Amino acid sequence: MHQILHKEYLSEKVVKFEILAPQIAKKRMAGHFVIVKIGQKGERIPLTISSANLNTGTITLIVQKVGVTSHKLAMLEIDDYITDIVGPLGQPTHIENFGTVLCAGGGVGVAPLLPIVEELKKKGNRVITVLAARSKDLVILEKEIRASSDQVIIMTDDGSYGKKGLVTNGMEEVILNQKIDLAITIGPAIMMKFTSLLTKKYIIPTLASLNSIMVDGTGMCGACRVSVSNKTKFVCVDGPEFDAHQIDFDELLMRLGGYQEDEMKALDSYSKLNN
Ligand SMILES: Cc1cc2nc3c(=O)[nH]c(=O)nc-3n(C[C@H](O)[C@H](O)[C@H](O)COP(=O)(O)OP(=O)(O)OC[C@H]3O[C@@H](n4cnc5c(N)ncnc54)[C@H](O)[C@@H]3O)c2cc1C
Ligand code: FES
Repeated sequence: MHQILHKEYLSEKVVKFEILAPQIAKKRMAGHFVIVKIGQKGERIPLTISSANLNTGTITLIVQKVGVTSHKLAMLEIDDYITDIVGPLGQPTHIENFGTVLCAGGGVGVAPLLPIVEELKKKGNRVITVLAARSKDLVILEKEIRASSDQVIIMTDDGSYGKKGLVTNGMEEVILNQKIDLAITIGPAIMMKFTSLLTKKYIIPTLASLNSIMVDGTGMCGACRVSVSNKTKFVCVDGPEFDAHQIDFDELLMRLGGYQEDEMKALDSYSKLNN
């Protein structure tokens, strides 16, 4: 059982929690995630550890309300307990001084991107970050990202903040004006597909952090499998980051959509029960 010590809304659908988990805080590195379960029979969902504080023994999770479990989590308040948090899981991000790194974060993908941006800056990289969202009220963690980036470009689909356009428009503007040594993309699978097509065109090595469906988080159930360089990999133990140019994004998109109808029905029944 893990106590919630702080809760804050970053936008209408995105909540930030600080949770007591001293053992996880001690071992966590940038790129790690946890699997969270609410209630004894709850579904398990993966969430990136956005930051950890060794003094308070807390970890920060940022969660976007999309389906039943993320809604249940967002309803918890300060001093409530989360039944299970397992982690840290996954391979930490490999960080060194690459030179100039172009980071692209879409929607809640900015939450897992933040610890990577911070570590890249600490290692002496020049960091350029493109933050993209559908509209102004969905742009999150701008202040924190600015603190560790040399340049920040904000793109909104509707032009309500920053520049009007997609994340790829902001990235291409940067790529055309300076040499980029590495790109990192985190966001919805469809965004990562198009950002990696763009960097492939300009021959820029690129990493993508995948948001596949997960169940056990230990490489045993096969729920999170993806094809990378035509080989089967498991996001929970081999990832979550992979060479973006080798990922079969079409297969990932198909697998992510496989449960959509059931998930929507579950959310509908949950909403009716809670209204
Ligand atoms: C390694 C890893 C790290 C992650 N880190 C975070 C994080 O830090 N914060 C966070 O909010 N989420 C994160 N996710 C995604 C998160 O796990 C899912 O959003 C969550 O499992 C949804 O569970 P649910 O039961 O609320 O919704 P579900 O009922 O499973 O989904 C409902 C509907 O929401 C949509 N949906 C589900 N997941 C996503 C998604 N990832 N992107 C866009 N649409 C989606 C689909 O249309 C789906 O049908 C991460 C995923 C992985 C694999
Ligand atoms: S979640 Fe089961 S194999 Fe990765």
